[in-house]
Amino acid sequence: MRSPLFYVGDKRKLIVEIKKFFPSNIRTFYEPFVGGGSVFMNTPAMQYVLNDINPHVISLHNLLCGFANQQDLFLAQIKNIVNDYNLSFSFQKNNIPEDLKKAFPKTYFAEFNRKGYNQLKQDYNSSNVKAPLVLYLLLIYGFNRILRFNSKGEFNVPVGNVDFNQHVYDAIIDYFNIVRQRSILWQNLDFRDFFKKNRITKKDFVYLDPPYLITFSEYNKIWNHNLETSLLSTLDELDKKGIPFAISNVTHYKNKTNELFLKWSKNYSSHPIKSNYISYHDNSIKSFNEVLVTNY
Ligand SMILES: C[S@@+](CC[C@H](N)C(=O)[O-])C[C@H]1O[C@@H](n2cnc3c(N)ncnc32)[C@H](O)[C@@H]1O
Repeated sequence: MRSPLFYVGDKRKLIVEIKKFFPSNIRTFYEPFVGGGSVFMNTPAMQYVLNDINPHVISLHNLLCGFANQQDLFLAQIKNIVNDYNLSFSFQKNNIPEDLKKAFPKTYFAEFNRKGYNQLKQDYNSSNVKAPLVLYLLLIYGFNRILRFNSKGEFNVPVGNVDFNQHVYDAIIDYFNIVRQRSILWQNLDFRDFFKKNRITKKDFVYLDPPYLITFSEYNKIWNHNLETSLLSTLDELDKKGIPFAISNVTHYKNKTNELFLKWSKNYSSHPIKSNYISYHDNSIKSFNEVLVTNY
């Protein structure tokens, strides 16, 4: 199942492989770097404690969880904004003029939505109370569906060549169906505070998908060698207490190697994960190597 946040770097395509290594009975599933949530969505457990340092990510999850029992109301509120800002809505109607489609056969969504999207973005950025529902629509209609803010805290993604379509609807409904049946606690903490705050026990399970030191994405900018060192020593502490964990990471990327992680992982079990990235061999050096490291 796909997260309706369409998160950059999500684990959607790898989840089947990753899950093979998860314990079969999980009491509380802890996920300190939850992102779009594709892993918790696809993992059965008795209860969940889910966290991310990004307050926008958590507010989007809270928004969706809040509407899980009010599907029709959620859609109605979305339609109001779509109508007010004259956005396309290919999930239910075809309101893009044929001549625009002919003039821009590959980019007509972006051409049609640009004006309304920019207005919505401006209204969102200038309002004192930031409505998460508006942010969700900016994400859905935005370029590559990325969540990006400038140093002034303004959402600054340009219009994308996408809209609210059947895939978005299906992902939302799947999410609603999942969270409706589950007991979930959301947190918005740095992972160090997350581990201080939560009393994790041997019966629980911790899955971690932190930013990767050697790859590039928006959230990797807030990750560094010190944070990774601190995370790895926290995992050593969990291991001493007998708490099972699994951590995803990338050990090789192009000509870079994450030596810190590689060295640390030697004390645990490392499972190669077939990634969806194109990987090729260059004089036997693999360009991309994704792993799941477990302490069991
Ligand atoms: C690789 S992404 C997780 C993607 C997720 N597995 C998914 O399927 O969508 C890493 C996440 O860690 C979060 N993050 C970065 N630094 C953090 C920190 N110090 N504490 C907690 N979360 C952090 C980022 O905001 C980002 O959402």
